[in-house]
Amino acid sequence: MENNFIDFVSIQLAKNSKEALYVQLYNQLCEYIKLGRLAPGYLLPPIRKFAAFLNINAGTVVSAYKELEKNGYIFSRSGSGSYVAESNTSIDEEQPLEINDRKIDDPETLSPFDSAMINMSSISLNPDIVSVEKFKQVLIEVLDRDQGYAFSYQESQGFYPLRESIAAHFNKSGVKTTPDTVQIISGAQQGIDIVARALLNYGDYVFTERPTYPGAIDAFRSRGAKIIDINLEVDGIDIDDLEKKLRQFRPKLIYVMPNIQNPTGISYSIAKRNRLMGLARYYNVFILEDDYISDLSYSKDVLAPLKALDRDDRVIYLKSFSKIFMPGLRLAFLTMPKVFAAKLLNVKHLSDISTSGLTQRAFDLYLRQGIWQKHLAEIKQTYQIQFEFTLQAIAKYLPKDVHFIKPNGGLSIWFTLPQNVSAKSIVELAFQNGVLLTEGSPFFPRQTSDQHIRISFATIRLQEITAGMQIIGKAIETHL
Ligand SMILES: Cc1ncc(COP(=O)(O)O)c(C=O)c1O
Repeated sequence: MENNFIDFVSIQLAKNSKEALYVQLYNQLCEYIKLGRLAPGYLLPPIRKFAAFLNINAGTVVSAYKELEKNGYIFSRSGSGSYVAESNTSIDEEQPLEINDRKIDDPETLSPFDSAMINMSSISLNPDIVSVEKFKQVLIEVLDRDQGYAFSYQESQGFYPLRESIAAHFNKSGVKTTPDTVQIISGAQQGIDIVARALLNYGDYVFTERPTYPGAIDAFRSRGAKIIDINLEVDGIDIDDLEKKLRQFRPKLIYVMPNIQNPTGISYSIAKRNRLMGLARYYNVFILEDDYISDLSYSKDVLAPLKALDRDDRVIYLKSFSKIFMPGLRLAFLTMPKVFAAKLLNVKHLSDISTSGLTQRAFDLYLRQGIWQKHLAEIKQTYQIQFEFTLQAIAKYLPKDVHFIKPNGGLSIWFTLPQNVSAKSIVELAFQNGVLLTEGSPFFPRQTSDQHIRISFATIRLQEITAGMQIIGKAIETHL
């Protein structure tokens, strides 16, 4: 059944009422459904159009729809919209609507094609891109081959054949490693955590880039480490700042993302990679290289990971498969320097005994049968289109004094807003108009900055990139 705004002309919302607008809308839509004015199967109006019709924010409609869904009045279908539920006889008529403080949802847990919002915050792959059929076939192959052994406890270091196939695959990209020095982990976040636990003591110094990945900041702080942030320039870490602080603080660890840094998208020049390696050697510091996305590079001149320059087993190379496959698999690996391999293994064992053996066996076949390589080539093609489309939309819809550095790849772009524009207000205004963005401040370990936003194109369609960028552009213009 098609929706029609004629059905909603009698909706009345009082903006100066004590009752929140979304509660008023919820209550009136409930009444419509209970009275049968909206029959089962009725397709509710799309969020943004309904919001425009009612002259309210899209976020208000989202909240009302969410409550209706939670209480069984409607259901939503990914990508197609929200419908009146078939039967609502089990709904407790007396149950009052819980009014919570409305929070901006965690973008990573939002349904990626949540028809309610344009999610320009998540940097996880669009689930529609992953071939579920292929994964099913591989799982069947693993189960036919390994039977119940696929479910037994796995070695803490990881399924040996997977370590072999990882070593073979990554040797080609210059990461010289062997099955004995590969440690399989349940996601890169676990990798950062176990490195922190194995290497750091209370009060130790850790250097990070500024800005950097917040999950790493939290992991280091949870060990009682002190974070010293190093300035980041367009071609990588600021070597002068690094050297000055190395002399002053003598850190145990330097945490970096030399390829397509999160959040800035910056990639280090070869000169800066060499200087960083030289300084780490001179001051005898370990480097944790977080490679969360370098496979998704759209430029031909991609540099090999920093690990390829490592002559004295100083770089711990951390590779996540979350961003280019599915984060829910929880699969990554790191290379272990010999001097503290035993410690790392011990911490991994304490943490979760081992990463899921079934997942490891499936992923091993992905690498051995070349399915992984094919998947990579396909998603690169898809995201290159999204990336270029995003660049065009930026040129068209964002004010000229919003700055960004064009990244070599990845799934997002980092922006510096004009001096007088607050990132927090832009994120809020965009949210009210149906667009989710990431605010820059959590990426700063110490002094925060309210001047940055990160915009992602990972889970949205091309039309949504245009619509989202228009909304962001307008939001910035209103604040200029
Ligand atoms: C830079 C960086 N490192 C690590 C992670 C964690 O990845 P995983 O899902 O493999 O734990 C993320 C997730 O967003 C990330 O952006």
